[in-house]
Amino acid sequence: MELKVENVSFSYNKKRQILKDVSLSVSSNSVVGLIGDSGSGKSTLCKIIAGYISNYKGSVTIDGEKIPDKDYYPVQLIFQHPEKTMNPKWKMKKVLNESWTPSQELKDTFGLKENWLNRWPSELSGGELQRFSIIRALNPKTKFIIADEISTMLDAVTQVQIWQSLINHCKANNIGILAVSHDIDLLNIICDDILYFKDINNL
Ligand SMILES: Nc1ncnc2c1ncn2[C@@H]1O[C@H](COP(=O)(O)OP(=O)(O)OP(=O)(O)O)[C@@H](O)[C@H]1O
Ligand SMILES: [Mg+2]
Repeated sequence: MELKVENVSFSYNKKRQILKDVSLSVSSNSVVGLIGDSGSGKSTLCKIIAGYISNYKGSVTIDGEKIPDKDYYPVQLIFQHPEKTMNPKWKMKKVLNESWTPSQELKDTFGLKENWLNRWPSELSGGELQRFSIIRALNPKTKFIIADEISTMLDAVTQVQIWQSLINHCKANNIGILAVSHDIDLLNIICDDILYFKDINNL
């Protein structure tokens, strides 16, 4: 499968255009990195691709078709700050099973500890919480993952471990990944291809 972004332009308001004719593509089974300056519009692009923003120009398609948004959106965004995406009044067990019921094997792969499930989101570290958001996004209906600075809060060793687990799972299940990061060393390790945001944004 091919996720294609073609000539996407967007501005939040009349004062400043953020994206101009941005195009990129990600195929199943590949990891494409995206690196660029802070404030340049990478997260905005991620939100457009994952269906959070709809009033843009251009197109986002999978195999040439508009992405269906009725049942389940097959492009899942994982954010930098996992706590912002979780209901603080839900125990982690409920947070984890919100989208689907992951296998024990998958929970083990990401080092999810059983006793974390009975805690509130505020009782876990950023890195621990991020494991939950990653697993949650790996619903079997997911075809592409947009990972927006997902490992910024982790130490270098944990960062590589989590990325290896995510990439192994995605390669085995034919899921494509767009990985946004400021960390060129990390992208060099995990990506099949790296895009520079300033090269694809035609402002
Ligand atoms: N909801 C919004 N309304 C208005 N402006 C916004 C909104 N969200 C983001 N912006 C602005 O759009 C620009 C691009 O923001 P964005 O978050 O996409 O950048 P980024 O490349 O992801 O930056 P970083 O690397 O720091 O995460 C910024 O100048 C930001 O202030
Ligand atoms: Mg960002």
